[in-house]
Amino acid sequence: MDNCIVVTGGAGFIGSNFVNAWVMLGLGKVINLDKLTYAGNLENLAEISDDENHVFVQADIGDKETVAALLKQHQPKAVLNFAAESHVDRSIHSPGEFIQTNIVGTFYLLEEVRAYWSALNEDAKRDFRFLHVSTDEVYGSLTADDPAFKETNPYEPNSPYSASKAASDHLVRAYHHTYGMPMLTTNCSNNYGPYHFPEKLIPLVIHNALNGKDLPIYGNGSNVRDWLYVEDHCSAIRRVLEAGKIGETYNIGGWNEMTNLGVVHTLCDMLDQAQPKASGSYRDQITYVQDRPGHDQRYAIDATKIERELGWKPAETFETGIQKTVQWYLNHQSWVEHVTSGEYKKWIGDNYQAREKA
Ligand code: NAD
Ligand code: DAU
Repeated sequence: MDNCIVVTGGAGFIGSNFVNAWVMLGLGKVINLDKLTYAGNLENLAEISDDENHVFVQADIGDKETVAALLKQHQPKAVLNFAAESHVDRSIHSPGEFIQTNIVGTFYLLEEVRAYWSALNEDAKRDFRFLHVSTDEVYGSLTADDPAFKETNPYEPNSPYSASKAASDHLVRAYHHTYGMPMLTTNCSNNYGPYHFPEKLIPLVIHNALNGKDLPIYGNGSNVRDWLYVEDHCSAIRRVLEAGKIGETYNIGGWNEMTNLGVVHTLCDMLDQAQPKASGSYRDQITYVQDRPGHDQRYAIDATKIERELGWKPAETFETGIQKTVQWYLNHQSWVEHVTSGEYKKWIGDNYQAREKA
């Protein structure tokens, strides 16, 4: 077993940031298994496309033969599962894909990893890790006065997306308790940064603002999210992989709660500075639209455990991270153009045309 890892979903937003950093930091070989759904994009990996430490394989995590063959050939010391359907609004429109990938796909992946791990020698078995990348949404919704989510909070998922992630977290937990497999789970808050697909709030607002389109706020914009720069999420995952206690879960967050309206105002003000309009402010494009059904009011992460036990802290504040992000989008307009053609246009029609303006 050399220093090789398997990453699933490594052509998506967080997965590609993780794989790029892993290879550029010289941490070893990555076998990147991704189905390349609408959310997966090889352009996200352009900087490492010629690197011998990056091997890309287009496949479904539920494709048992391919997964088994990869594990046998590369003998990884860890498997990190980022692959998922990840957009809450899509899970409301068509939950089937979420059940298929996030629950059934994770189950098939776990079965193949179990077969591989069971056949390892005792030393390799002890050193192996399966790290499951999950979300704070499994804990449900907080009121304004509730304490932030701790690892001990009960699971109360409210959307088909969060319910499917909760189910996969439970499978991972069960494979540790039943089979003794060396599992780690991370539950992170909202990420932002490079390669974020413009169906999600921050990149959608930047894209729409620059194209003179409405900036759609669901409901009254008072919903609260905790925002973490994607590279900080990646550094936390590396730290959990390196030093996390087997069978444990770790909450990851930025101690940075903001209302959606606060986020959109910040983006408008930054764009007003970086790329001023001929007249007026980008804030003039803000439009209140029909709320997301079952919209969770507030998420907040208590990241004390990972900070205290593993010594991890985010490197970016929201101010520094959002500056980098806005600049990245201004500098990568051709990436945005490529990902906003075709299927993207259909999704925008499906999601926003039916929403009445409030
Ligand atoms: P994403 O939608 O940008 O990327 C998902 C990737 O998984 C894509 O490359 C896609 O092609 C791939 N994929 C989807 N189905 C697959 C399948 N059946 N087999 C193989 N590959 C498949 O998602 P993201 O925002 O990068 O999220 C990555 C992980 O992190 C997810 O598990 C998500 O639940 C979790 N997470 C995301 C956030 C966030 O703010 N984006 C926060 C916390 C946790
Ligand atoms: O909390 C972690 C989760 O964060 C991840 O598990 C998910 O994969 C990720 O997509 C993200 O989920 P959210 O639903 O919080 O992210 P999204 O960017 O879709 O929405 C952020 C907030 O902005 C949410 O309260 C809904 C609101 N929103 C979103 C869109 C797309 C709007 O007001 N208007 C919009 O057009």
